[in-house]
Amino acid sequence: MLDWEQIFATRSSRMRASEIRELLKLLDQPDIISFAGGIPDPALFPDVAFKEAYSDIFSGAQVGAALQYSVSEGYKPLREWIARDVAKIGIDCTPDNVFITSGSQQALDYLGKLFLSPNDTALVTWPTYLGALSAFNAYEPNYDQLSLNGNRTPEAYRDTAAKTGGAVKFAYLSADFSNPTGETVDLAGREKLLALADELDIAILEDAAYQHLRYDGEAIPPIMALDIARRGGIENTRTIYSGSFSKTLAPGLRVGFVVAAMPVIRKLVLMKQAADLHSSTINQIAIEHVASRGFDAQVAKIRSVYSKRRDAMLAALDKYMPKNATWTRPEGGMFVWVTLPEGMDGAELLAKSIATEKVAFVPGRAFYADGSNANTLRMSFSCADEAMIDEGIKRLGRLISNAIRAAA
Ligand SMILES: Cc1ncc(COP(=O)(O)O)c(C=O)c1O
Repeated sequence: MLDWEQIFATRSSRMRASEIRELLKLLDQPDIISFAGGIPDPALFPDVAFKEAYSDIFSGAQVGAALQYSVSEGYKPLREWIARDVAKIGIDCTPDNVFITSGSQQALDYLGKLFLSPNDTALVTWPTYLGALSAFNAYEPNYDQLSLNGNRTPEAYRDTAAKTGGAVKFAYLSADFSNPTGETVDLAGREKLLALADELDIAILEDAAYQHLRYDGEAIPPIMALDIARRGGIENTRTIYSGSFSKTLAPGLRVGFVVAAMPVIRKLVLMKQAADLHSSTINQIAIEHVASRGFDAQVAKIRSVYSKRRDAMLAALDKYMPKNATWTRPEGGMFVWVTLPEGMDGAELLAKSIATEKVAFVPGRAFYADGSNANTLRMSFSCADEAMIDEGIKRLGRLISNAIRAAA
């Protein structure tokens, strides 16, 4: 028998099954109330608009091009639409600065591949998006905790990186309604990050997957917009912005994008030629078709539904959670992040919760690059209606109160 492990590359040792993917299997059980998957509600997909889009493509002159190979940069009208859309939030760029990826997850993989040599350091928030850690892990980096309150000096980051034999290459974060905490980085935090990145001379990877999902509060300019304003143009920036149509239109088409200065775009194009040549031509055309006819209406619709679910989850947490649990109050996105008293374990709680209460969530530890903070939970409100949210949190509140009492 061939010992596969023996011949796998060292990078494969850090590829492990994600707790979230395992949990998604639970969504198939009808009696589970799931706050686990961070996915859009399929009832909100603009399916009629997509049906029209594909029907138009197949009944028009475009069908040949739609089914053909296409350029690695992406479908030009879609890149033009994205350039106009991001201009509304201060990201002044040309369509050439926009690069289409197969979901923004692919952007994370490419950016990991582009910047990280083994032992280099990626700065990430504690916690951070698990999928980013999975994407970067293949390039064998070390992680260091990105502090957004300015209380770590550039030397501290440099010293830590030097000890492990590499250099700090980038800071990765989701500034708006992050996955997993739902929190937003305020303007001062964004400015501090730009100053830190200047001092360290590194890139900033701004993951804007949830950017359109703001329910209340004032919009804060993206880090990339601040960077462009300071530097006088996108070609002078150090920020790389990634976005997605997954949370607004539909994830199944796998269309995401990167906005960056041309030297970065040119490398990404070469990487795409080597990896998958281009993202699905027909899906890019369909996304442009739907986005150009009804993006704002679709975003208004999903905001209205998700904001009510967010409100229902916060109200239920206020009502049912024991006093010594705390949680975030997100202004957008899909997640609330719950912190339980020290010593409690989210994974143990999940096992009990599924067995006795039929409620699922994601234990928070997987979102920490160092596997710490087991006493945290990620709760998604995107796929449950308000009555289910109230019932699910009621059951979870009971379970957690009992667990806290038992531990006391
Ligand atoms: C923060 C963040 N970034 C990126 C992604 C990847 O999404 P997609 O590849 O569908 O664009 C997700 C998906 O959940 C996410 O939460």
